[in-house]
Amino acid sequence: VPEGIVRPWPEIRDDDRSAVLGVLDRGILWGPDGPELTGLQADWAAWLGVRHCLAASSGTAALHMALAAVGAGPGDEVITTALSWTSSGTSILFPNAVPVFVDVEALTGTIDPARIGERITERTRAVLPVHLHGLPADLEPIMTLARARGLAVVEDASQAHGAEYHGAKVGTIGDVGVFSIHASKNFPGGEGGLLVTNDDAIFERAARIWQFGEVLQADGSRDYDAHAVGWNYRTCELSAAFARSQLGRLDETIAAVRANCRHRGRRLAGVAGLRLPPEPADRTHTFWRYTLRLEPEELGLDVPVAEAGQAVRSALRAEGVELYDGDLLIPGMTLFRERAGYGRGCPWTCGHFRGTVSYDPADFPRARDWLDRAVPIVHRTPPNGRELMDCYAEAVRKVLAHLDELL
Ligand SMILES: Cc1ncc(COP(=O)(O)O)c(C=O)c1O
Repeated sequence: VPEGIVRPWPEIRDDDRSAVLGVLDRGILWGPDGPELTGLQADWAAWLGVRHCLAASSGTAALHMALAAVGAGPGDEVITTALSWTSSGTSILFPNAVPVFVDVEALTGTIDPARIGERITERTRAVLPVHLHGLPADLEPIMTLARARGLAVVEDASQAHGAEYHGAKVGTIGDVGVFSIHASKNFPGGEGGLLVTNDDAIFERAARIWQFGEVLQADGSRDYDAHAVGWNYRTCELSAAFARSQLGRLDETIAAVRANCRHRGRRLAGVAGLRLPPEPADRTHTFWRYTLRLEPEELGLDVPVAEAGQAVRSALRAEGVELYDGDLLIPGMTLFRERAGYGRGCPWTCGHFRGTVSYDPADFPRARDWLDRAVPIVHRTPPNGRELMDCYAEAVRKVLAHLDELL
C-alpha cells in the first residue's frame, strides 16, 4: 500500500466546518437545551424512527445510562458477549452489576443465543448483545428468550449505525439501544454516544444519570434536585453540531462503505485459506470493520491457527494495511481476572450479590478462535474508493500466497 494513499476519516467537508463555526458564532457552547444537542437528539431519533434519544459524551457513558435505566444494579447479573470492545463488559460494573460472559458464534463472532439460556439465573436483569463490526447479532432468539424470562435487552450498536436485522435498524429492537459516535465510526461525531428508546420510563431514568440525577423537564427547566446518583454525561454543542452535519450524509456514507466492501470482496473471492465477512440473508452489515477469516487448514499448513493468524497480520501490516486492535476477549482482561472493580472485591463481594461467576478465558474457545483467525481491516470509508480497495485486496492475496514461506 503506497504511503499517503489512504484519505483520512472522518472526511471533513465545508458543511461540517460551517456547522462547527456556526456554534462559535452563536456563542452557546453547552446546555441540556442547547440547539445542537437537542437537534442531534431529534435528528437521530427521526433517522431511527424512535421516540427518545439522549446525546451523551461517549458510547461508554450511554451504555452506563442504558444499563442503569433498565434497572441493573447491586446484586444483578447482566449477560453479554465475551468478545467486544472493553466498554461492553465494564459498563455493566458501573451501576454495580456483575457481568456474565457468553461465548460467540464461530463465524459471526457475535453472542451465541443458544448459550444465553444456560447462563440465566434469578439474578439476571438484562442481556447486552453487541453488533460486532456492523453485523447485527442474532436478535430474534435473544428477544424471545428475554421476553419469556422478563429480561431487558440493551443493544450495543456502537459499531453498527444503520445495520438492519429482519428489516429493522439495530438499536431500535431491544428495550434500549446505544451507539458510539467516536470519530472512527461510520457516523462520526469526534467523541460522543447516543442512547435511544421507545420506553418513556427508561428514557426518564437514563436522563437522570445523564444530568446530575435531575428529573428532565419537557420545557427544559431544571429544579437542580438530585433524585438519584447522576453523572454529567451531556455532550457539548461543538461535537453535536459536527455529528449533525455528518448525520446529514450518513446514508451516503453507509452506501459508499458497503460499495467499497463489496468491491474488495469481489477481488478476494476464491482466495484459498480465506473467508469473506459473513452477511446472513436476514441482516445487513455496515462494515465498521471488514473482517476476513483465515482458514489455514485449507492450505494444508500444519501450524496452529494462532500462529498463522499472527504471521498474516504482521505481514499485512508490513505491507501497509491498517488492522484493528480493539477486539478483546473481555473476561481475560486484568480487571476481570483480578476482580479489580471498585476495590475490596466490589461488586462481586457486595452483600447483595449472591452468585458466583467465573472469568476463565478458556471458557470462551470460539471467541479465542475467532480472534486467532480474524484479519480486521480498518479502511473502508469514502472518499477512498476502488483504488484503495484494490490495493488492500492485492496485499491480502500476496500475503496468503506466501503464507508457507512466512511461517
Ligand atoms: C462495541 C462498543 N461498545 C462501546 C464502545 C464505547 O464507545 P465510546 O468509545 O464512544 O465510549 C465502543 C467503542 O468503540 C464499541 O466498539
